[in-house]
Amino acid sequence: MAKTAMVTGASGGIGLEFAERLAKQGYQVTLVARGEAKLKEHVARLGAGHRFIAADLSVAADWKRVAEDVRASKYDLLVNNAGVGVYGAFADGPVEPTMAMMRLNMDSLVELSHAFLQVAKKGDALLNVASTLALLSFPGAATYCATKAFVTAFSEGLWFENKPRGIYVAALLPGVTKTNFHEAAGGGAENVPPEGITQTSAQVVDVAMGALESRSSPTVLTSFTNKAMVFFSTRMIPRKTMVNIMGGQSPVKPQAQLKA
Ligand SMILES: NC(=O)c1ccc[n+]([C@@H]2O[C@H](COP(=O)([O-])OP(=O)(O)OC[C@H]3O[C@@H](n4cnc5c(N)ncnc54)[C@H](OP(=O)(O)O)[C@@H]3O)[C@@H](O)[C@H]2O)c1
Repeated sequence: MAKTAMVTGASGGIGLEFAERLAKQGYQVTLVARGEAKLKEHVARLGAGHRFIAADLSVAADWKRVAEDVRASKYDLLVNNAGVGVYGAFADGPVEPTMAMMRLNMDSLVELSHAFLQVAKKGDALLNVASTLALLSFPGAATYCATKAFVTAFSEGLWFENKPRGIYVAALLPGVTKTNFHEAAGGGAENVPPEGITQTSAQVVDVAMGALESRSSPTVLTSFTNKAMVFFSTRMIPRKTMVNIMGGQSPVKPQAQLKA
């Protein structure tokens, strides 16, 4: 029987790369995102056996409908990849986009993980997409970093809890990746992250697929540069210095500096 997988946020970027790669490996993939037209197009291209669920995972009724499908379908693999960022000084804009991001990046991920692990069997895997920014606070995306720190700590705990069941759980921590993420988060052409540290979705998914094979670590960083950056920033310098350095790189400047 063919293996089955669900990938959330699969209408583009890293999620679509996951869906395509898994389909090539013989998985029957269920793609989830809001954009129904794109999902339809991708499923048609991937061929028979694949399906989609159009859902807004920042809305409880929608993520509960998807969780029901996870429970009923008993997938071999769940990739909780759907996620957004909100750029800007926290107190400057309205709070609702931040709250919606928190529901998508954390609440829906928790409920889908719960549904998956309740019915999971030996050999299954749960991959939660976090970010290198889980470990490096980035002023100007404060809440985003916090959501990804949550996803990382949550997944690491689940990794330990589910080891005895033979179920692999991990957090995937991509660094800057060339997708629509930056633009969707409110970033402009003037603050596109440097090309030198940017990976492609294919490179990120290469590392993720390797991790799903080796099942050796609860925390998966996707490049040597990211590993080096995290090692230097978290082990070699005080945390306060790290936050100040990251703040200096951020396009969002402290209020006092802007008013001066
Ligand atoms: N790109 C980066 O630099 C980077 C770095 C580290 C981590 N990540 C993480 O990687 C994951 C994938 O992001 P990406 O870079 O591939 O970005 P992307 O190209 O913008 O893709 C995001 C995906 O999530 C879906 N999505 C957004 N809001 C949704 C919602 N409310 N409900 C359901 N689906 C929703 C989008 O589809 P619809 O718009 O059709 O819903 C799309 O398929 C995210 O969790 C992100 O935080 C990205």
